[in-house]
Amino acid sequence: MHIKGKISYSSPSNIALVKYWGKEPGDQIPMNPSLSMTLKECKSFTTVEYEVKTDTEPSIEVVFEGKRSIDIEAKLQRWFTKISYFFSWLNYATLKVESHNNFPHSAGIASSASGMSTMAMCLYGIDKHIKKHNENDINLLSNISRLGSGSASRSVLGPYALWGRFDGFENSTNDHAVVYPHVHETFLQLHDTIIVIDKKPKKISSRDGHSLMEGNPYRQARIFQSNKNLEILLQAFKEGNWEKFQHVTESEALSLHALMMSSEGGMLLLKGGTVEWIHYIRNKREERGIPMAFTMDAGANIHLLYPAASHEKVMGILEESPVPSIEFIQDRTGKGPEKMIDEYEEI
Ligand code: PMV
Repeated sequence: MHIKGKISYSSPSNIALVKYWGKEPGDQIPMNPSLSMTLKECKSFTTVEYEVKTDTEPSIEVVFEGKRSIDIEAKLQRWFTKISYFFSWLNYATLKVESHNNFPHSAGIASSASGMSTMAMCLYGIDKHIKKHNENDINLLSNISRLGSGSASRSVLGPYALWGRFDGFENSTNDHAVVYPHVHETFLQLHDTIIVIDKKPKKISSRDGHSLMEGNPYRQARIFQSNKNLEILLQAFKEGNWEKFQHVTESEALSLHALMMSSEGGMLLLKGGTVEWIHYIRNKREERGIPMAFTMDAGANIHLLYPAASHEKVMGILEESPVPSIEFIQDRTGKGPEKMIDEYEEI
């Protein structure tokens, strides 16, 4: 076999409403189910130039945001050993990868979710040409993405994706994410304004953070809480109930950080500005009665979720805030990856 080509995809990041934090033994098995909203604007763009020829040595070169990245090359090679079960041609593929994000680094936007899912899309696209099939096995795609980065399993789907076994939804599984379909129209088009408070890279990786949950004294309580919160969130989705949505979203954001703080070594990612912004948002919400709910990722920045119709009012509130921020990034509910280039020749 000898095939050459170039393939390119974009894939969005996602923001978890019920957070994945902690693993079970095995290969990327989550400790609890998580549910996220897929974003629309904050994306990774990945292009893979490939040559697959039987009996050649595999090689990979990655250029990330204009610079060669040995770290990403090593990360992808580790991932390839797991997924060559699906894509055996990786054992004789020459790959040149170029990838970049359209959002700033360390802005509280999960770049591993968007980055790994674009890569999974590209590999699956190559697989179609090699094996001459035209399937679109979204479960497989999500599974492959999961093996690269847990949260990436949810980025290939939208607008809402659920990953991890949950008793309240029969199709749920630890192997891949599924679209959660029973969503009231209130939540189908949400805005997410990301309040960037700190841009410095975090000192601890999410990989290390997940493993710290192994010895966390609140581990069992967290498993119970996340399942309960997911149950309430699904009720909110069904009823179009903003109060329940807000309750879960904020409980999850604060609990994620509380879990980090109570882990060995006391991981503290919140900044003073994060806490000030939270107080400001809660005060203004009470004063003006505008629905808006904050959440956070593993970082100091805030995602503020609200119905599309309140965009101007919310932006007015944010712009008149005395609490400083670096910038506001505007995003909203999205659907998932898009193909940009797919050309190849058989030699
Ligand atoms: O996918 P990972 O291993 O980078 O973990 C992501 C963890 C959080 O972003 C904090 C929560 C989540 O569910 O996305």
